[in-house]
Amino acid sequence: MNNHVTKLEYDVTINEASGPELHSEADVLKLAAAEMALGFVESGMLLGLGAGSTAHLAVRRLAEWLRLGRLRNIQGVPCSLETERLALSLGIPLTTLEAHLVLDLTIDGADEVDPQLDLIKGGGGALLREKIVAQASRREIIIVDESKLSPQLGTRWAVPVEVIPFGRGSQAAYLESLGAHIQPRQAADGSPYHTDQGNLILDCDFGPIPNPAALAGALGNRAGIVAHGLFIHLASDVIVAGLAGCRHLLRGAS
Ligand code: A5P
Repeated sequence: MNNHVTKLEYDVTINEASGPELHSEADVLKLAAAEMALGFVESGMLLGLGAGSTAHLAVRRLAEWLRLGRLRNIQGVPCSLETERLALSLGIPLTTLEAHLVLDLTIDGADEVDPQLDLIKGGGGALLREKIVAQASRREIIIVDESKLSPQLGTRWAVPVEVIPFGRGSQAAYLESLGAHIQPRQAADGSPYHTDQGNLILDCDFGPIPNPAALAGALGNRAGIVAHGLFIHLASDVIVAGLAGCRHLLRGAS
């Protein structure tokens, strides 16, 4: 698939409203991608608010633009409880997918992006809500720095698989039968990590994945697996920030 590539310049404003996450050059690149994605937001839109450090930079900038009146009448649907807390603390009006079945646009991050703009997501544990929100969005803009680009999914990142606690050993054996080396995710204190839904995550290293869609099918068909981090055909746009500027990759454009 040929993806349309636009090179765009950027000029990032770093100020107090950018938040505390800006520690490195990579963080500044993430902010550049976030600002560029926000350029596609129009007043009155229903927005999916992504999870993870890059998406949170976009949330902070969105709040600033709302305060300045640069955008108005935005309502957001957060992809995680942490994003919800952040958005509420910044005064961003929130809504739900029960109130609105379709969102205009979502801005989210990713852990790995391949040349077809398919993704691995879920490094932050919010994969299920992120996928629900992505599926409900007319446009899914993914913002990354160029370290996230990969020739083949699985080269750089394990696939997070969210399983319900009941029968987790059986799911682990199934994942191993598909070729995964499994690392059960842990919280910072070493206890099992629990998602916003109270489930567990098995980080599954498959190595480079020759057919991500087929693997997604095999994961999706298994009872007990609630979600997996392969996002196939879900991103409409990817904005990649690098030292030379931002690139806007558009799915399916030639
Ligand atoms: C959250 O569950 C993830 O899908 C994030 O979008 C992804 O891990 C990227 O996170 P960073 O922006 O923090 O790298």
